[in-house]
Amino acid sequence: MDITDLKNTFFKEFGEHPIIFRAPGRVNIIGEHTDYNDGLVLPFPVSQSIYLACSLRNDDEFHVFTVDLDQRAILKTGKNQSTNDWTRYFVSALRVLHEDNHKFKGLNIVTKGNIPFGAGISSSSALTCGFLYAIISLNNLPITKKDIVFIASRAENNTGLNGGKMDQFAICMGAKNKAIKLDCRDYSYELIENNMVGASWMLFNTNVEHNLAHTEYNLRRADCEEGLAIIQKSLPSIHSVRDLDMIILNNNKNRITSKQYDRLSHVILENERVTKMVKALKNNELFNAGQLLYDSHYSLSDLYEVSCKELDFIVEFLKDCDFCYGARMMGGGFGGCVIALIKKEGIEIDHLLSDYYNKFNLELTLIPVISSDGISRID
Ligand code: GLA
Repeated sequence: MDITDLKNTFFKEFGEHPIIFRAPGRVNIIGEHTDYNDGLVLPFPVSQSIYLACSLRNDDEFHVFTVDLDQRAILKTGKNQSTNDWTRYFVSALRVLHEDNHKFKGLNIVTKGNIPFGAGISSSSALTCGFLYAIISLNNLPITKKDIVFIASRAENNTGLNGGKMDQFAICMGAKNKAIKLDCRDYSYELIENNMVGASWMLFNTNVEHNLAHTEYNLRRADCEEGLAIIQKSLPSIHSVRDLDMIILNNNKNRITSKQYDRLSHVILENERVTKMVKALKNNELFNAGQLLYDSHYSLSDLYEVSCKELDFIVEFLKDCDFCYGARMMGGGFGGCVIALIKKEGIEIDHLLSDYYNKFNLELTLIPVISSDGISRID
């Protein structure tokens, strides 16, 4: 990202010098559809980011120019109507700050980013967290980065996806060269070294955007909640899916639907895979790490039913490639990316690209990812 260019654009737009904030996208190594079930996740923030050039105004207005969309908007603290476009994240974030009685001045903002939109790398969470961080920093509000996780999550949930807090946590709390083992039951976390010898993380972007993703996501969450509620009727000591194990689940198999059984099995086993993956990362066990990725993929595809034919195709192809240790669909599902652990050398993907194009009439895009710092003021 050319920061000088961004500063010049800001100067042209507002006639002053800005302060620059950076909000990264995130990927998730393993622990999918576990965050809203009080489970474990292992994400990290990436170098692909949204940059916000900002200055404080003397009123309560937000004048925003997004370079990538070439669009402008003027918003007011807590007084905006709901929208369906990119401004909804700003509107929703302002509403949450207003609900919490925070008093602050508006900003002039120019945004520009390099997080591929719709690829499941959390560009919307990056935008929401970055916006909040800029407001909080320039107004000196007593709100920590960890608080932003919860504020941003409330704001985003109001825009339609009943999501967990993994994305916002990784974006706000992540650190360079680390992955975050996050426990979504109490939001305790551990930073894990994420520099494997001889291997790196690569995303394969399907370029598929499934327009049912939000609906299906909310339905999966409801499947888990409904299955849990039935089990809780006879076992009141079970507070969340996290308190279940396969023995308890199997003992209750006849009381819940087979779909609820499958969804809950996925979550229980996926939590176990996160713990195993942490061990594999710490000991540089590349084959074990790879196998956990494949296991996670089949669980997401068969039990949780959030994959799609394009994601499955890429994983099956990579399974036969010597340069790949393991791969799985990443994020909410129904499109987005496959995350793969690949060797640093000897990568041969021409066949994959052409086969994918011939089969789906879509480009397959490769996105190398490394763990970077979380949200920060950079200049
Ligand atoms: C989306 C949500 C996250 C998480 C993942 C699935 O990215 O925003 O909270 O639930 O899907 O693991």
